[in-house]
Amino acid sequence: MGRVGLPLALSFSSKGVKVFGVEKNKSTLKLLKEKRPPFYEAGLQEALEKSQGSIFFESYDSFSFEQCHIIIIAVGTPLNENFMPNMSSIEDVIKSICRTARNDSIVILRSTLVPGTTEKIIQPLIGRVGKSLHVAVCPERIVEGNAMKEIATLPEIVGADDQDTGNIVRELFLLLGESKKITITNTKTAEAAKIFNNVYRYVTFALANEFALVSEKIGIDAREAIELANRGYPRGPIPMPGPAAGPCLRKDGFFLPNMSNDSLTRLAWFLNESITVHIIETIEKAYDNICGKKIGVLGKTYKADVDDTRDSLAIKLIEELRIKKGAEVISYDPYTTNFSTLQEVLNSEILILAVNHSVFNKINEDMLKNVKFIYDVWGQLSHLDLSSHEIKYVALGKIETWSHKKSLMASF
Ligand SMILES: NC(=O)c1ccc[n+]([C@@H]2O[C@H](COP(=O)([O-])OP(=O)(O)OC[C@H]3O[C@@H](n4cnc5c(N)ncnc54)[C@H](O)[C@@H]3O)[C@@H](O)[C@H]2O)c1
Repeated sequence: MGRVGLPLALSFSSKGVKVFGVEKNKSTLKLLKEKRPPFYEAGLQEALEKSQGSIFFESYDSFSFEQCHIIIIAVGTPLNENFMPNMSSIEDVIKSICRTARNDSIVILRSTLVPGTTEKIIQPLIGRVGKSLHVAVCPERIVEGNAMKEIATLPEIVGADDQDTGNIVRELFLLLGESKKITITNTKTAEAAKIFNNVYRYVTFALANEFALVSEKIGIDAREAIELANRGYPRGPIPMPGPAAGPCLRKDGFFLPNMSNDSLTRLAWFLNESITVHIIETIEKAYDNICGKKIGVLGKTYKADVDDTRDSLAIKLIEELRIKKGAEVISYDPYTTNFSTLQEVLNSEILILAVNHSVFNKINEDMLKNVKFIYDVWGQLSHLDLSSHEIKYVALGKIETWSHKKSLMASF
């Protein structure tokens, strides 16, 4: 019942399917039984409230899968400390299902998998226990924040080793949206297609970040150049630069066998990961030594308008500033627990806008009276008129503006 499993379970239950939402984490389970979402996702609270009587939240420790015709697995598949995909949760769940599931039920793997996992690990595991379960892969491709809408519309890729299983899975997912495009292929191709989606996005974000670094070198505004490149142009669009990470994009490249020295995916990983160092080095050009300096950071999540801090480069940035540079960092994020208020963070001498949450659009010049230096990672504050403030303003991909209007005046 995580960020993938819960929205999916609620979507099925809203279509009249009897759903058991099985969860291992006791506090998550408690919240769900009280109809309280364990995390923020648009529309989730409403869906939970409406789901009365059609979804039953159950503890993994005591649940018997015997009563289910179809079992969907959506547990996490993170990397381990050696940057290897950690499939232990999936394997544990498969073993557990095998203990109680009836023969001929269908297991659908919704988690992101290394291409070949079903064939090389899951099927042999089920075979060793002597069960005859049908296995299909149907990878989740939603973005956090828009899950409830996308579940009903995104095309599904179903990997199945026999046509009958594929057809049943197709029928099941068609319940979520009549117009959904559903294609059946083999399991390895379905597993790979999901990874290709995420790696493609991730490499594209790295390219946007490379454009930002280039723009700083040649003295242009990357956002302006990208906006012009995209305007009315039918091939694209090029994304805007910014820290690219999160629990999916940051890890999924490591699910491919070619993270070798010369792989583009690996280069993209290094480039995206280096953005936090680049931000700090830019600040250090203005302040030789930031040890002991008070730095306010706005945003801690891995992207805008979500409450998920997993694999967040904003958190990495905060840690680098604190641990490696000795800065005194305070932070505020509207979606997480905070020890400082928004205004306290805005009162810092150095301010970094790390995550472009929509609510930060409300920040105005009067709130920035004590700030001397702004690093605006997303260019979100670029519209502010700081000409009467003694503020150095820098954005990722746009380095030259010192107290912008002033420097422009100087050049005339
Ligand atoms: N988060 C996303 O936006 C997203 C999008 C597409 C794909 N994915 C993939 O989907 C999978 C799940 O990701 P997530 O973000 O939902 O993870 P998550 O950590 O939010 O959810 C996993 C849930 O499974 C529970 N769990 C773990 N072991 C269990 C067990 N044995 N029995 C029952 N519950 C158990 C955890 O307590 C947690 O609630 C991953 O493979 C991820 O890569 C995630």
